[in-house]
Amino acid sequence: MHAVDRRPGSVSLDGTWRFQLLPAPDAEPGPQWDEAPVPGCWTMHDPRDLPHYTNVQMPFPHHPPLVPEANPTGVYEREFEVPAQWAGRRTVLHVGAAESVLIAEIDGAPVGIGKDSHLASEFDITAAVRPGGRHTLRLTVVKWSDASHIEDQDQWWHGGITRSVSLHATDVLYLDDVAVRAGHDGELRVDCRVRGPLDGGWSVSGELEGYGELVQDTAHDASNRELGRVSAFLGEARLSAIVSGVRPWSAESPSLYGLTVRLHRGDGSVADTSYQRIGFRTVEIRGRDLLVNGDRVLIRGVNRHDFHPLTGRVVTEPDMRADLVTMKRFGFNAVRTSHYPNDPVLLDLADELGLYVVDEADIESHDHAHEIADDPRYLPAFVERVSRMALRDKNHPSVIVWSLGNESDYGAHHDAAAAWVRRHDPTRPVQYEGAAKTDWSSTGIASDIVCPMYASLGEITAHARSGEQTKPLILCEYSHAMGNSNGTLADHWAEIETTPGLQGGFIWEFRDHGILQRTADGRPAGPATAPGAYANGITAPGYRWAYGGDFGDTPNDGVFCADGMVFPDRTPKPAMYEHRELAAPVRLSYDPASGTATVHNRQYVRDLAWLRAEWLIGGEESGNRTVPAELPDVPPGGSAPIALPAELPEFPRLPGHPGLPGHPELPAEGGELWLTLRVTTADDQSWAPAGTEICTPSVRLRERTAAWPPPAAGGGAVETDADGLLVHPLLTAPPVLGLWRAPTDNDLLGGAAARWRDWGLDALVRKPVSVTRDGEGRVTAVAEYPTAVGTVVHEQVFTARADGSLLVEETATLPEALHDVARVGSVLETAAGLDTMEWYGPGPWESYPDRCAGGAVARHRAPVDELFTPYLRPQESGGRSGVRSFTLTGADGSGLAVRLDAPRQVSVTRHRAADLAAAAHHDELTPLDRSVVHIDAAHRGLGTASCGPDTLPPYLVAPGTHRWSWTVRPV
Ligand code: GAL
Ligand code: MG
Repeated sequence: MHAVDRRPGSVSLDGTWRFQLLPAPDAEPGPQWDEAPVPGCWTMHDPRDLPHYTNVQMPFPHHPPLVPEANPTGVYEREFEVPAQWAGRRTVLHVGAAESVLIAEIDGAPVGIGKDSHLASEFDITAAVRPGGRHTLRLTVVKWSDASHIEDQDQWWHGGITRSVSLHATDVLYLDDVAVRAGHDGELRVDCRVRGPLDGGWSVSGELEGYGELVQDTAHDASNRELGRVSAFLGEARLSAIVSGVRPWSAESPSLYGLTVRLHRGDGSVADTSYQRIGFRTVEIRGRDLLVNGDRVLIRGVNRHDFHPLTGRVVTEPDMRADLVTMKRFGFNAVRTSHYPNDPVLLDLADELGLYVVDEADIESHDHAHEIADDPRYLPAFVERVSRMALRDKNHPSVIVWSLGNESDYGAHHDAAAAWVRRHDPTRPVQYEGAAKTDWSSTGIASDIVCPMYASLGEITAHARSGEQTKPLILCEYSHAMGNSNGTLADHWAEIETTPGLQGGFIWEFRDHGILQRTADGRPAGPATAPGAYANGITAPGYRWAYGGDFGDTPNDGVFCADGMVFPDRTPKPAMYEHRELAAPVRLSYDPASGTATVHNRQYVRDLAWLRAEWLIGGEESGNRTVPAELPDVPPGGSAPIALPAELPEFPRLPGHPGLPGHPELPAEGGELWLTLRVTTADDQSWAPAGTEICTPSVRLRERTAAWPPPAAGGGAVETDADGLLVHPLLTAPPVLGLWRAPTDNDLLGGAAARWRDWGLDALVRKPVSVTRDGEGRVTAVAEYPTAVGTVVHEQVFTARADGSLLVEETATLPEALHDVARVGSVLETAAGLDTMEWYGPGPWESYPDRCAGGAVARHRAPVDELFTPYLRPQESGGRSGVRSFTLTGADGSGLAVRLDAPRQVSVTRHRAADLAAAAHHDELTPLDRSVVHIDAAHRGLGTASCGPDTLPPYLVAPGTHRWSWTVRPV
């Protein structure tokens, strides 16, 4: 393994190959050949071996290192020609990655074998080929081997050749490796390893773009152990330079320099050349801080797998670019290559776009972690997988940390691998979650970073405050994004930003692994699927997103593979907008006493010149208005006042405030007033064209001051049925009490849903108690809702009002035993045809009480069909938190208007909770023609209990008495 990039001069062997799928590696290929794409997973196109999803458990019961006899084996074959001008050169076959064991043969003769499904294998085939000749290449890929037990990552199992195959040639005298160290102070050192006939004489030269020639460094001789030995006898040479005025590389400002290294023969002619883009940057750990170029940068990371809904594990350059561009646009500055090295292209892209990378070795022995971590038979594999990754990726400035793998317990192999990588590359820290699992204060050797997964906020802050912390704490996984999730991200970041020792983490994970499946035959739709089979996270009729079990795969772990911040087609989920706002480069604050607003630059190295902004004025009564804004000059980490818009229609007439200077005539209204700075890119960035929205920080200028309920004289009699259920022309189902929601994945896996079912909340029955009518036509309806642990009493008072509205005042009293319900509120159904919702509150994104930092408070409008979020397994979704008022109207603009006593959780969808809960996939749901409306006095936060902490106590729904009221009127 080496860091010399041979792609530019290589001959691609990608394309359609002959293919046979055998039942086992010792079966003989027959005369009949199919075709298969290379790269490609046969599991995505061959019905005899379909994708299989497991998390921890292995798909077969055999203990390591054994595997089943039934062992799908793909035989790939094609002809290739060796260019005649390669005569006298060294010819190399490069296989980017194959899953899992790779056996290479040319013209029937073996040339080598490789393991490690996520690193390349190279075979020197000079002796097996003839320049100008035509040969047959056979690559046999065996699915299961001893190595499968250390590739037990939580993902689909596939088989195939998953990265590109190519040929290249070098001179017999060649650069075997080039190792670059470039610090942010401009110190550059390039170590070259040369192979071939060395006795004919050789030398290396180097050239740095924009700087000039590098000098061959002769100062360090074999006796200088500290600087490392350089031995010409062994083919070693070193170039060095102190580059002045260097622009350091960072995720914010990823400056790259082209470095060319040439290998010369004794006569000075060039035998080999290597070109790479390098970055000057320094990573170090000082105390409990991880520093990049001397800055303690917060790590806003996300875990990424290689995944594509049509091709499985095969991802192209555009796929990888789109992944990283999406991350950048949503405020991520770091990616962990969970749980294996990615295609080198991904690191090129991270270098170019600016993302810090935790580069992880392909080691996860989850199911047999304890047996394997100290089993000497697996020692070489551990050390090789770590060392080969480091050898390949060491020159990428984006890589700031080496990770020894994932979920493999902690054993001697980890210490061995850590020792190797530390010695080989002292310029980067090493991390391994398992090494610091039980004792974060331990100084155990295999992890320089305490990188727990799913630790609670309480635990990590307690550690940071304990006085015992010795290492930076950066969560390798947190905020499990399964279904409707990522509650309390804002709480996390509030602590991380203010607690020394806490430095961020990596959300689990980037993308849902839903494979596009044809419902007609249950097969993967596959690489040849025509466009239009999915869009905006939703599959077209005839398709669905498959998860574990959908291909008849057993055992399986169901929908646990759908835990991404984006849908399988990379459509961002609402949680992405939450993250974007929390990671925003610009923040806004407002001081009501002085009436001044301040802009804060939250970046480490950039000023605000790459951004522009406009004001969005969001008035509860006056609606939205957009006016220009001028961002002040603010240095990184600094703050500066920003002028408020001159056009404020309802400038706060707060006590003691003079009002908008120059506009004393403006009327004060009773509604709220919010000001949002809509920040966009001023010009093209490598990851966002000019005009891309970056963040929408908001401040409240005025609270609602109008009286509640709005004063109104009697408007006549209210109509109810004999049981006290409201009869209203705009409603097809009257408001009744709701205590339940279609369980989210967090509710199910965290246990809340089972409790709710035991209590009977999913099948509440209303028992009318009394209906009374007063002299003015006001109706008071009292009902009881029995549950397994006590009865909930619900009272509704309906008052008709002169302005044509109906006031609904509700009280629900929950017994103490109902200490943690999903919601307390009203659920009703509207008349059909009211297809557009407009609301005042945060938006436009879906939000919940513990995930509501991502939206600007303003007036928002959306088709009802678009309010719903199609999480892969149907569940509670589409909620909007902090809604103050909303309308639902039809094409002619008529419909109903609801005003709430206080900001409330509201959802408007086409689905009843029970229907959502009964469905496993979206194609099983039939949307109603009307809307199901929930108005909640209280709604349980989302939490992350599918893997990690449950909803935090402040976001739980307490027992006792809840009161809420609202008005509804026709519009
Ligand atoms: C972690 C693991 C990940 C994934 C996640 C749950 O324990 O490292 O690979 O399984 O949990 O989705
Ligand atoms: Mg695992």
